[in-house]
Amino acid sequence: MRGRENTKCNSNAKKRWQILKQALLQRQKSAVGSGDTVSVRRFSTFELLSTKLISTNEQEHLWLQYNCSVFPEFNVDIRHLTQQVKVDDLIGFNNTGNVCVWPSEEVLSYYCLKNKHLFRNQNVCELGGGMTCLAGVIVAVCSDASHVLLTDGNENSVTNVSSIIERNKTLFGKTEVTGRELKWNEREKFDDLSGQYDHIICADCLFFDQYRQDLVDTIDCLLKPGGTASIFAPYRGTTLQAFCDLAKVKFNVDVQLNYDATLWQKHQQMLTKGKEIYDENIHYPVFITLTKMDAKELKTN
Ligand SMILES: C[S@@+](CC[C@H](N)C(=O)[O-])C[C@H]1O[C@@H](n2cnc3c(N)ncnc32)[C@H](O)[C@@H]1O
Repeated sequence: MRGRENTKCNSNAKKRWQILKQALLQRQKSAVGSGDTVSVRRFSTFELLSTKLISTNEQEHLWLQYNCSVFPEFNVDIRHLTQQVKVDDLIGFNNTGNVCVWPSEEVLSYYCLKNKHLFRNQNVCELGGGMTCLAGVIVAVCSDASHVLLTDGNENSVTNVSSIIERNKTLFGKTEVTGRELKWNEREKFDDLSGQYDHIICADCLFFDQYRQDLVDTIDCLLKPGGTASIFAPYRGTTLQAFCDLAKVKFNVDVQLNYDATLWQKHQQMLTKGKEIYDENIHYPVFITLTKMDAKELKTN
């Protein structure tokens, strides 16, 4: 029986990686230059934010200035890693956050920009923020949060995020901003953060079968009672539902598809282009809100 379950797990894990691999290959295709026409260009951004190249060391990184037409006062410098990540590098511990800023991070960033009032006087932590932790940086720059902690489990991502913090430190005002390596499966290394956070933000981190329960437990560990996690992720097969099923044990879970009129309109437009270009299963970020139950609520559940 065990053997059969293991085989089933392995084949499910393989399917998840296929979904991610497909997204990565699409992403690389959309990044190729002149030979690529608009008709075959695959989806990579909702164009909620715009970027301008500031400088580049092509081998290793580039600096982009991010802006948003809806919030003209906003601009922030973000360092991207430019080394090619091969599909093989994605297997094992994990380089997916060094490939690009994924659409869910873009949407989370836009959400944070639009709702910066939510973070006033709050301790905020981004989990699995990848090489930019873009949404967390936006909270640090645009809101009056007390403290923002930017994290990922990948060492290279965290080193890159440190450069971003250093570069933008004059924009943080009174908000204290720190970066740190945080692996959801290494609880003993972040016990000091237990119960410290009012708000957790996270984008496109629900598809890791191996770490899904760890992610739920990490959010539970870090949040204060009554705290909130704002999470954006595409369905990616059954992975989002699997996350929600685990989260329901500890949190009130709210799932929304149509949460922003501008984005919903872009989504409807993209759907007309067909699955080859835009596949909502891997491209459209669903919005999940988790609210941490207090002891009383847990008992009655
Ligand atoms: C698809 S990327 C998303 C990155 C970024 N949020 C974005 O959307 O652009 C998933 C991220 O989860 C991180 N990750 C995967 N497993 C992890 C774990 N066990 N602990 C912490 N981070 C993990 C990876 O390093 C990666 O940056």
